[in-house]
Amino acid sequence: MNKPLFECKNITKKYHDGSAQISVLNQLNLTLSAAENVAIVGSSGSGKSSLLHIMGTLDAPTEGQILFKGQDIHQLSERKQALFRNQNLGFVYQFHHLLGEFNALENVVMPLLIAKQPLKQAEQQAKAMLERVGLSHRLKHKPSELSGGERQRVAIARALVHQPDIVLADEPTGNLDAENAAAVFDLILQLKNELSTCFVFVTHDLNLANKMDRQLKLKQGLLFELNAEVVEHD
Ligand SMILES: Nc1ncnc2c1ncn2[C@@H]1O[C@H](COP(=O)(O)OP(=O)(O)O)[C@@H](O)[C@H]1O
Ligand SMILES: [Mg+2]
Repeated sequence: MNKPLFECKNITKKYHDGSAQISVLNQLNLTLSAAENVAIVGSSGSGKSSLLHIMGTLDAPTEGQILFKGQDIHQLSERKQALFRNQNLGFVYQFHHLLGEFNALENVVMPLLIAKQPLKQAEQQAKAMLERVGLSHRLKHKPSELSGGERQRVAIARALVHQPDIVLADEPTGNLDAENAAAVFDLILQLKNELSTCFVFVTHDLNLANKMDRQLKLKQGLLFELNAEVVEHD
């Protein structure tokens, strides 16, 4: 059997709110294989973003382990965690989180420059990725000069340009109208197949969720495996 790419082991997350404690994740387990794509659904406040932040080392679990190729990434130093994110992870958020003062090309080049790639090579790679998401005519546009769908395409190009093993997408189509959401989602599916990247895709849209390999529902701090039929009638 293939070694798992990514494992969440007994993840618990509690937040402190004054003297009160909110328990969001409760001994949660998840195993992902390379190139697998998974949808996570769940009501607002169920902990989907908390889980993605913990998987991406942007926040620490209260208890439990996150293993990437067998290594506990929360045991790494902050510097090594940053390196891990830069080399192996891509993030896409509901709101694009692009840098407003930089154009599309500069935004997509950024992770490659952080990874110390030479500028010329980084620009070529970023241009190719922007072309792949259908934006070769928008390289010099700043985020404020792009439509919502175009901004998300830039954000996807930025998340994928360094060919990460895993992309964490937190409601990437949640802020788009139905037509743009479907187009952006189709693009994600195509890229996923081309690049053999593992995608974890949080969405409220059950039709989109059903197009992924696996559907999981986050409820009461745990993930439940759903088959396509159950999701449809949920
Ligand atoms: N930094 C925080 N401090 C305290 N509570 C938080 C924090 N982040 C999230 N929460 C709470 O944890 C719960 C889950 O939030 P979140 O992970 O954002 O859910 P979802 O993404 O599924 O909507 C919510 O009740 C939210 O209010
Ligand atoms: Mg959320």
